[in-house]
Amino acid sequence: MKHRTALVVGLLCVSLALQRAGVAGQRLTAEFEEVQHFPGGSIQTSNTNTFPESSTISGSLVNLTAGGLREPHWHTPSEWAFVLSGTCRVTLVVAGSDHPAESWDFIQGDAWAFPSNAGHTILGLQDGCVYVAAYNSGSFDEISDSLGLSAWLTTVPAARLAQALNTSVANTALPNQGSSPILQGDLEALTAGQINAPLLATEASAFGQADQLQITANSHRFPVTYGVKPTITATGAGYIRQVDSTYFTSGVNFSGGIVRQDPGSLRQLHWHLEADEWQFGINGTLEVYAVTNQGQVLNGTLREGQAGFIPRGAGHYLYNPTSEPAYFAVVFNNAKFSTTSLPGFIGNLPLEYLAATLDVPANTLKSWNIAKAQELAAPQSTPSAVNTAG
Ligand SMILES: *[C@@H]1O[C@H](CO)[C@@H](O)[C@H](O)[C@H]1NC(C)=O
Ligand SMILES: *[C@@H]1O[C@H](CO)[C@@H](O)[C@H](O)[C@H]1NC(C)=O
Ligand SMILES: *[C@@H]1O[C@H](CO)[C@@H](O)[C@H](O)[C@H]1NC(C)=O
Ligand SMILES: *[C@@H]1O[C@H](CO)[C@@H](O)[C@H](O)[C@H]1NC(C)=O
Ligand SMILES: *[C@@H]1O[C@H](CO)[C@@H](O)[C@H](O)[C@H]1NC(C)=O
Repeated sequence: MKHRTALVVGLLCVSLALQRAGVAGQRLTAEFEEVQHFPGGSIQTSNTNTFPESSTISGSLVNLTAGGLREPHWHTPSEWAFVLSGTCRVTLVVAGSDHPAESWDFIQGDAWAFPSNAGHTILGLQDGCVYVAAYNSGSFDEISDSLGLSAWLTTVPAARLAQALNTSVANTALPNQGSSPILQGDLEALTAGQINAPLLATEASAFGQADQLQITANSHRFPVTYGVKPTITATGAGYIRQVDSTYFTSGVNFSGGIVRQDPGSLRQLHWHLEADEWQFGINGTLEVYAVTNQGQVLNGTLREGQAGFIPRGAGHYLYNPTSEPAYFAVVFNNAKFSTTSLPGFIGNLPLEYLAATLDVPANTLKSWNIAKAQELAAPQSTPSAVNTAG
């Protein structure tokens, strides 16, 4: 008898320890790494170095000064970004296109999407520019894993560069070091508006106005705030503005959106069939709760400036426990992503199955107002009745 008790207590301790290890070992949210400063701005990274759970998506938070230029560069992971403040002039060169260069002035709420290894550069305009970018690789580091134009060309033998560019060796002398990943050039004139035509173009590229709505078939810009109607709104709960491959056909493996959750608002219980979810806390505070396919219960808090990660298939929700609205950017590593919500799932199952599975009388289930359940649910005016059935 004594042995049995000891065994039970022992097992209990092991199971508690495992549970605790699970909670401590796997997080839903994490801080970004330390800020790295450069002459034209700064960058913070979030990848598997500090957030191993975010195994398939990484991100960076970039702050450009007025005239600060993210050096022309490219990288293998696709990129999806949201402008958080200021204005960013983004130029993308897409291979194999009649109109290879696409330039846009992006403002708060705009999103861009760059295909794998498409060369691009980003300039902070008068008020500078802050953006958060996500990449479909967990270990990616924007600074060390991107090839920059100057870093490349300073490695090429002068004779080969001269030959390649149909000029003399004297004309291709480059300083020994590449420039900074974020440089502060003499670019004030560019930030004022007009820009000289690129060497291969007959005229300067037409910069899109911030509030222009047109999204061409191949555009890599999404004016999320202006151009995309909220896909989900609920009075007193907030909105979700979402962009996916129905808007964006340019072939990157991302979709995403901006979510506002008002005080007490609940993002409905749901899961994503084909995509991991990466989050960035823009402001406010949200409780995050998820259960993985392996049944591991995870919880966390997504605060301003933090990254969050929900593995594909994990049932999850977000809840705003504060008295202030909370905003977050969300990115999925699939251009087409699909979601099943709890009401959408159980509302399509025979009542008898649910009654048997959940061990709840069918009459109680009929009181679940599944048809009116919201994707963003406002706080309930009266405290919800505690379900004591079963
Ligand atoms: C961006 O950098 C500027 C200049 O250092 C700073 O004043 C500003 O607070 C930064 N913005 C963010 C959102 O970090
Ligand atoms: C530039 O290209 C033309 C045409 O192929 C060639 O004749 C000329 O020698 C080249 N000049 C240099 C400096 O390489
Ligand atoms: C993007 O998705 C396509 C189709 O699923 C896949 O073949 C391709 O490898 C993906 N590319 C990247 C960079 O993840
Ligand atoms: C939170 O972020 C949203 C979206 O960027 C912005 O509209 C709102 O003003 C911000 N709220 C605060 C308190 O900063
Ligand atoms: C997460 O779960 C633990 C253990 O159940 C609990 O103590 C903690 O308060 C929860 N945290 C949040 C943010 O919900």
